[in-house]
Amino acid sequence: MTETALLGGETALTPQDGQAQTKKVFVKTYGCQMNVYDSQRMADALAADGYAPTAEIADADLVLLNTCHIREKAAEKVYSELGRIRAIKAERAGRGREMVIGVAGCVAQAEGEEIMRRAPAVDIVIGPQTYHRLPDAVRKARAGGRVIETDYALEDKFEHLPQPKPGAVRSRGVTAFLTVQEGCDKFCTFCVVPYTRGSEVSRPVAQIVAEAERLAASGVRELTLLGQNVNAWHGDGPDGRTWGLGELLFRLAEIPGIGRLRYTTSHPRDMNDALIAAHRDLPALMPYLHLPVQAGSDAILKAMNRRHSADDYRRLVDRIRAARPDIALSGDFIVGFPGETDADFEETLRIVRDVTFVQAYSFKYSPRPGTPGAEMAFHVEEGVKDERLQRLQALLVRQQRNFADGLVGRRTDVLIEKPGRGPGQWVGRSPWLMPVILDEKPGEIGDIVDVRITRTGTNSLHAEAL
Ligand code: SAH
Ligand code: SF4
Ligand code: F3S
Repeated sequence: MTETALLGGETALTPQDGQAQTKKVFVKTYGCQMNVYDSQRMADALAADGYAPTAEIADADLVLLNTCHIREKAAEKVYSELGRIRAIKAERAGRGREMVIGVAGCVAQAEGEEIMRRAPAVDIVIGPQTYHRLPDAVRKARAGGRVIETDYALEDKFEHLPQPKPGAVRSRGVTAFLTVQEGCDKFCTFCVVPYTRGSEVSRPVAQIVAEAERLAASGVRELTLLGQNVNAWHGDGPDGRTWGLGELLFRLAEIPGIGRLRYTTSHPRDMNDALIAAHRDLPALMPYLHLPVQAGSDAILKAMNRRHSADDYRRLVDRIRAARPDIALSGDFIVGFPGETDADFEETLRIVRDVTFVQAYSFKYSPRPGTPGAEMAFHVEEGVKDERLQRLQALLVRQQRNFADGLVGRRTDVLIEKPGRGPGQWVGRSPWLMPVILDEKPGEIGDIVDVRITRTGTNSLHAEAL
């Protein structure tokens, strides 16, 4: 599974052995990790109805696109993909085999009616809040209907989504995502998420712990807690107090087998003292934090409705580094937000220089229909956006490279994940998410072992076992 901190990744679920099922489902995932998690859960729900995953569209009785609406390009991709799938559907029909096409995810939620209009081959449109109704929708579509499910459901989808069968998860690897929080109430003026994912909801402690225990029992060693604002998570602890993410992380670290914890994506305003203390006191919590700042100019941050200043962010980073000096930060940036001047953009470069990021995702502002940003005056020219993005990325790439170079000679732990490409090679995951390539097998898959970094590769590190 690729680790796109937030966007742009496309992943296809791979088939698992040992399942004598007759129907096949092809799932393609766009967008953030929450979509990756959701795709898995939809596949689980469909498995209960006899659908096995396939990586070949032409073999699929059911095709599901789990879509992303965050930028225009992400949304438009879906329509071109649907054009391609429609041809395969027609070809299958010629052989007397039907194909049901479903569009899930954030484009489904935002543009459900439009999808049905623009893409007549689509049978199902289903939004993120109603995935537990997917098996039903598929049955209706197979009976010849077209189904739109985009109302926010009253029942808790997590309660109603079937869990994978024991053992079924094993082949999915030693790392896993677990959604603990969904939706967003922050309404940054550029962002569609509050509209596509609805308002902030936290899953209850017991539900999260039970799912984490199931994952651990199936071989998962590293858990990444997910939420659009994951550090806004809160719930009633078994001790009768209200827990925040910090307390939850301590509880999850007690689960036998769970050796590493991460969480993403966090908002600077929700980094509370207990969470910062967890970075100091909880060894399982990896020293890596995705903490988007978006821009470095106070005027732009204000226009974006981020509700913090650039210096608030700098002070927050100081507090986090005081608790965990070796923490590595990753970020998201937007260039060319409406009204952004050259001087504003220089402030973005300045905060990047001040803070130093080991990983970053940077984007040109994309006006999204229905968001306040799209209605603002003084949109920045595309050419200017391009130029700013290039300058920002050049700086970020330099920082990334410096960080990797600085690791050479250092000792660290890696989680052994899978065999590598070269003969005898193994791949492990570093605390900073970068894959680590080892020339010999240093232990079993799922072991966390000590290594020394010997050199850097393109987007990877090489190491020797100690
Ligand atoms: N909840 C996270 C972000 C989720 S969206 C946070 O508050 O930081 C993921 C990233 O996509 C954002 O951090 C932002 O950098 C980018 N993004 C969101 N809307 C965008 C838009 N309209 N144009 C360009 N990039 C955008
Ligand atoms: Fe979007 Fe802002 Fe919510 Fe992040 S905090 S999901 S950027 S509205
Ligand atoms: Fe995209 Fe929806 Fe995630 S818009 S980034 S798939 S929450």
